[in-house]
Amino acid sequence: MGKILLFIVLATAAATSYWLYLNLHTKEEYVHIAGGITGERYYQFGDPKDKTHPLNFDLIDPECAPEAILTKILYGYHIMLDTREHTPKYAGNSIDCNCCHFNGGNTLGGKNRGISLVGVTAIYPMFSKRDNKQISLKDRINNCFMRSLNGKPLPEGSIEMDALVAYLAWISYEVVDAPSLPWLGLDPIESTHVPDPVAGEKVFQMHCVLCHGEKGEGRKGAPPICGSNSYNDGAGMNTLPMLSSFIWQNMPHGQPILTKEEALDVASYLIKCPRPHFVKPTEIKPADKKTEVNK
Ligand code: HEC
Ligand code: HEC
Repeated sequence: MGKILLFIVLATAAATSYWLYLNLHTKEEYVHIAGGITGERYYQFGDPKDKTHPLNFDLIDPECAPEAILTKILYGYHIMLDTREHTPKYAGNSIDCNCCHFNGGNTLGGKNRGISLVGVTAIYPMFSKRDNKQISLKDRINNCFMRSLNGKPLPEGSIEMDALVAYLAWISYEVVDAPSLPWLGLDPIESTHVPDPVAGEKVFQMHCVLCHGEKGEGRKGAPPICGSNSYNDGAGMNTLPMLSSFIWQNMPHGQPILTKEEALDVASYLIKCPRPHFVKPTEIKPADKKTEVNK
């Protein structure tokens, strides 16, 4: 009897210590945990005590912006969160920026954290293979408006564009000097598996329909992933490497449990589903830039 009691006491003590070990962190550890799973991974490459290490930083809350620019930054943040509400003339489907760039892109990517945008202001202008020319951050934002949101480009000088750029600059503030920003972009899944759309349909039925609907048309609380209200065929999301990578890291939402193979299969199935065709809008005339300012 005494032995059993001793065993229970020791087991409880061991479990408690293990829990504390997992859940209590030093301040330094906290910094990289706030940075997200990808951040953690890269952070560990460097010496956490080395203050010049590019990853020794915390994400910055938009609400902490200085008074003088706070309104603009919060406006940009809210456009990310509720794009359709704030830019109804330009957003063309039932998706907001936040559906792919979780938390307005203010994360370090990785499992469950969507596509990061922390640091983007530092990497643009940059050469775009898709556009076959050097593009600015504004051009890149408009690519998502025209393709991911199947909508129209924001006029260059509009207050909405101004607010989005200010917001992205604010969340990038700590890392503009970093030599590399490894959490940006969706890294393709490493696998030799040949994606199988037939197997993908089964994954879709089992893991996606519940939230995204029978045909991927979207439901309350989950955006469309197929059909006329989804992103168009010119979107990055409509390419196998990006879609499979996004799904593997983020879906099912909150519980990304698919294997790499399942993610590749379901992505190859979704690539085939109907969606709007991307039509490149004709260049906005300079005169429109001034007059088209919304609000
Ligand atoms: C628990 C509900 C849920 C399940 C299950 C789920 N998703 Fe999602 N999905 C969401 C939500 C919610 C978002 C938007 C996230 C946000 O706005 O923060 C989303 C976003 C997406 C997006 C990007 C936005 C868009 O509209 O294209 C894709 C692609 C996607 N899901 C694919 C899938 C696939 C594939 C599966 C099945 C493997 C799946 N999801 C399962 C809830 C879910
Ligand atoms: C359907 C998903 C989706 C939606 C919605 C979406 N994006 Fe994106 N966005 C992407 C993908 C995919 C990329 C490319 C990631 C990569 O390069 O690997 C991207 C890239 C970007 C980039 C460049 C990031 C980089 O690393 O170069 C910016 C800036 C951006 N998006 C802004 C926005 C804004 C602003 C909105 C809302 C108007 C938006 N996006 C809506 C999927 C989306």
